[in-house]
Amino acid sequence: MTNDATHKTWSGRFDEPVSERVKRYTASIPFDWRLWRHDIQGSLAHARMLAKQGIISTEDLAAIERGMAQIAQEIESGAFEWSLDDEDIHLNIERRLTALVGDAGKRLHTGRSRNDQVATDIRLWLRDAIDEIRSRIRTLQTALLDLAEQHAATPMPGFTHLQVAQPVTFGHHLMAYVEMLERDWERLTDCRRRTNRLPLGAAALAGTTYPIDRWAVAETLGFEELCRNSLDAVSDRDFAIEFLSAASLVMMHLSRFSEELILWMTPRFGFIDLADRFCTGSSIMPQKKNPDVPELVRGKTGRVYGHLVAMLTLMKGQPLAYNKDNQEDKEPLFDAVDTLNDTLAIYAEMVAGIRVKPEAMRAALQEGFATATDLADYLVKKGVPFRDAHEIVARAVRAAERQGVDLAEIPLTTLQQFCPQIEEDVYEVLTIEGSLAARAHIGGTAPEAVQAAIAHARARIAQRG
Ligand code: ARG
Repeated sequence: MTNDATHKTWSGRFDEPVSERVKRYTASIPFDWRLWRHDIQGSLAHARMLAKQGIISTEDLAAIERGMAQIAQEIESGAFEWSLDDEDIHLNIERRLTALVGDAGKRLHTGRSRNDQVATDIRLWLRDAIDEIRSRIRTLQTALLDLAEQHAATPMPGFTHLQVAQPVTFGHHLMAYVEMLERDWERLTDCRRRTNRLPLGAAALAGTTYPIDRWAVAETLGFEELCRNSLDAVSDRDFAIEFLSAASLVMMHLSRFSEELILWMTPRFGFIDLADRFCTGSSIMPQKKNPDVPELVRGKTGRVYGHLVAMLTLMKGQPLAYNKDNQEDKEPLFDAVDTLNDTLAIYAEMVAGIRVKPEAMRAALQEGFATATDLADYLVKKGVPFRDAHEIVARAVRAAERQGVDLAEIPLTTLQQFCPQIEEDVYEVLTIEGSLAARAHIGGTAPEAVQAAIAHARARIAQRG
């Protein structure tokens, strides 16, 4: 980045240049250069509208288009010289444009301010980012669906209070995350609608005196609405906050999943193994294989929450309209988008590489009296009031525990001592497969219900895109 003492675009009314320290403190170019594509895209749409309205000439427009094409190429190839003196992405590009095409470059900013320009850039940038994240969510969902399909009938313990509660299938458990991610996708789609509105035309804060056509710009840029108040247009960052809150929820879901993967991978559970490429060893303990990726996902969740709180705090004290505070919106947004993209991409690969250990899942189920509720339901169906059934089963569980056996291993005659209504058919409900099969309703864990849920989720994705 060069740092020569050239004149600033706005320096006409200043007696002395800003100090080096202030320059570094106030410049955003070290991070907002990332907006360059969208800055050029917005400028071209603005210039085309200016020419259409006769505010600039068609020659000027042609010069601007030519200059911008070259600038894009220079940035792409790394030849573009970024300058701290030009403060931000907008002035860096405008300065270079003017150097390349002269007065036409100086006319580009007619009827516009950096305030509506930057608001436009971020919306365009975030819209693309949202679309990329939505598609990564789809990829992760597909990986989960594929694994769920293989394990639609694989029994594992379902937990409450982290204690074995009732049998579920592993496929059913995975499908819970498909649902969470679907809501994430919906939230991002919804937030995209409010992101996709055009601020340009608001100029600094009060609108402009030129005969602009805001809808023409909106159409060129693919915005579906206009920001309807010029003060709000330049100062609104709600869409960024909405995005960060949707992003926080995505991370929260992946953090919960990470916590489960970490637990399932411990030798105590032994339910799964993660592929080696997602784990690391210990420099001192040769036996260890650590689940670094899920742990980092859990850790990075905190950082995305932090960005949400930073952005809310950034906005809470700002009077209308634009204030320089707003420049602080970018780094949290950029970092949250990067974190989500990386996390979702790595997660999809990790899920595809999960090795499931069904024997360990079944063994854990057999130790936990997981079909006790099924026995109670069985008694109710035989006419025993539920509260009495609950009590009877509690006694049977105690007896089984004393003998170190599972409920299904207690002989019929012993079970009948707890309740004479119990008959030979009780063993159908005491088995894991019987317990699973009995929950065949929509949203239930029976293998056929899980298959139906998978088909439903796949159709939903196909329909929504
Ligand atoms: N770099 C600035 C930002 O990110 C652009 C807008 C500057 N506007 C101004 N009035 N200083 O917010």
